Amino acid sequence: MDKFVIRGGNPLLGTVRVSGAKNAALPSMAAALLTDEPVILENIPQVRDIETERKLLAAMGAEVELGYGRAQHRTTICCRNLSSPEASYDLVKTMRASTLVLGPLVARMGTARVSLPGGCAIGARPIDLHLNGLEKLGAKISQEHGYIEARADRLQGARIVFEKITVTGTEDLLMAATLAEGETILENCAREPEVVDLAALLNKMGAQIDGAGSHTIRIHGVQKLHGARHRIIPDRIEAGTFLVAGALTGGDLMVSGCEPLHLNALLQKLEECGVTVRCNGDSIRVIGDGPLKGADVVTEEYPGFPTDMQAQYMALATQAEGTSIVTENIFENRFMHAQELVRMGANVKIEGSRAVVRGRTPLSGAAVQASDLRASASLVLAALVADGETIIDRVYHIDRGYEHIEEKLRGVGAQIRRIGELLPRRMTAPAVAS
Ligand code: UD1
Repeated sequence: MDKFVIRGGNPLLGTVRVSGAKNAALPSMAAALLTDEPVILENIPQVRDIETERKLLAAMGAEVELGYGRAQHRTTICCRNLSSPEASYDLVKTMRASTLVLGPLVARMGTARVSLPGGCAIGARPIDLHLNGLEKLGAKISQEHGYIEARADRLQGARIVFEKITVTGTEDLLMAATLAEGETILENCAREPEVVDLAALLNKMGAQIDGAGSHTIRIHGVQKLHGARHRIIPDRIEAGTFLVAGALTGGDLMVSGCEPLHLNALLQKLEECGVTVRCNGDSIRVIGDGPLKGADVVTEEYPGFPTDMQAQYMALATQAEGTSIVTENIFENRFMHAQELVRMGANVKIEGSRAVVRGRTPLSGAAVQASDLRASASLVLAALVADGETIIDRVYHIDRGYEHIEEKLRGVGAQIRRIGELLPRRMTAPAVAS
């Protein structure tokens, strides 16, 4: 398994460019299942989850071209001949977002067979809200041998109120409703930019969707969708990770190619911590020229502070003066990074859904283990300010969602390198979903 070897102490200086949003690209690729014409997606990040989704679609009979070049990262997906509307356990267990194919498959093919995702490092993460919603749209759902089967001649529009806000649940039902007969009203929807981006793609494909980005989305079902070309939004979590890295290392870092509006909650928090933040067009500059001050954080649905930035923020809080209370409201078990940070010298106590971080304590390099995607990012950040060398094991987690993070960080002055074992790379990612 690959590892990162990081030597701390260098401030990050210069400009780093953000890739396309993995969490917007995944539902957009699934949306291609809704039409028999090609869907062209640009700004696709070169990360492992996208490769998993490519395999998932290809296994159903889709033609998927995926190319990464200097100028553009593009995929063309054509789902003209879908032979097998199934998402196998082998793929779903490596990436829970595979369940996003459920809605589009049942809407277009009238049938879908998708493995239940099972356990997850950061909490239970059921998909009951996706299934309840599909039932309201008229699908017959059954479960057998660990698989969900959904069937419907044609889905029927309905009013669906999500009991709890769910990002992929909103996306799954949004896609399903585009081809349903009549009007669907989704209430208590996720308002994440990735939902808005998906709706923009679907509308380009001929869907009639209003209200994406608000709590209520109205979808007027159509008979057929057509092909489209769409550029995926920048990855706000990757951007946020670099911003925290710049601030934490006392650097002067420009994060370019991002959308500052999507990062409001984080930017406000960084300013509260004493970091200078300047936005200019699609770039954000952070200057960590003063001492960091601790500040409390509560994770919430968008536009609140993202749970996907909680672990990285905790790394920063270990280096801030005073006590910071980090409350995780979205997932019940998302503090796996805390114990690894403690091994590096942090003072973090977990009390239920709260982590009490007492700063600032010097960090020292250690051998640590990544447990999930964002936890790995937090360990990379901590290593950048630790004394000596940190070796992070299981970086396949970080490869799921960050494009060439070591190269991007090296480009702005970090001392980070990847070491691999003698196993071929494709064998190095065990099946763990998060
Ligand atoms: C998405 C993101 C993930 C992010 C999360 C929260 C993608 C591919 N992933 O995950 O990076 O951390 O949003 O912002 O976009 N829940 C249920 N039943 C359901 C669905 C969800 O109880 O059917 C619960 C979950 O267990 C969790 C909460 O709802 O406690 C929110 O989860 P959800 O928004 O669905 O997360 P994902 O869409 O899986």
